[in-house]
Amino acid sequence: MKEPDKAFVLWLTGLSGSGKTTLADRIYEFISKKGLSVEKLDGDILRGFFPATGFTRQQRDEHIKRVGFMASMLEKHGVIVVASFISPYRNARRFVRDVCKNFIEVYVHAPLDVCEKRDVKGLYTRARAGQIKNFTGLDDPYEEPEKPDIIVNTDEQSVDESASVIIDFIGKYL
Ligand code: ADX
Repeated sequence: MKEPDKAFVLWLTGLSGSGKTTLADRIYEFISKKGLSVEKLDGDILRGFFPATGFTRQQRDEHIKRVGFMASMLEKHGVIVVASFISPYRNARRFVRDVCKNFIEVYVHAPLDVCEKRDVKGLYTRARAGQIKNFTGLDDPYEEPEKPDIIVNTDEQSVDESASVIIDFIGKYL
């Protein structure tokens, strides 16, 4: 395993169903195949281990700040981090940007109605039926990034196209 010249934290933010995990997996594979040290951190996986995390603003903020801090520690030791979290609040994303050395914010964008139509996990249907409260984009906010480093529009681009936009950008770090 080689250390990259410059480690970084690639942070994918966006609505549920926007394509964060799919893209994170692609990018992780790409970096990994180069023999570089890389770790993947994903909201659903983390929450699988820590199911009491919750979805209030305070719980989400703590979760994101904790994960962001962890990401910065990995980065400090030369590990590239690919993180995929809804991370709906600007202030928490700002916290992560500030603790990391090289923070790259990727806005994985697809309109809400597209994400809802995809409904990969069936959660939008459950949220509309009132079975899940505080669902991002429905009855909970998503604060769009104001100046993301990269935007991918997953409703207009194929997975390959979005992945190559990101790969082109991180090329200078690899
Ligand atoms: S974050 O808001 O704290 O960044 P995170 O990315 O870790 O969220 O987890 C989001 C995942 O939790 C979604 O992809 C979905 O599978 C699941 N989930 C369950 N309840 C909710 C909810 N109320 N709002 C958003 N996602 C939810």
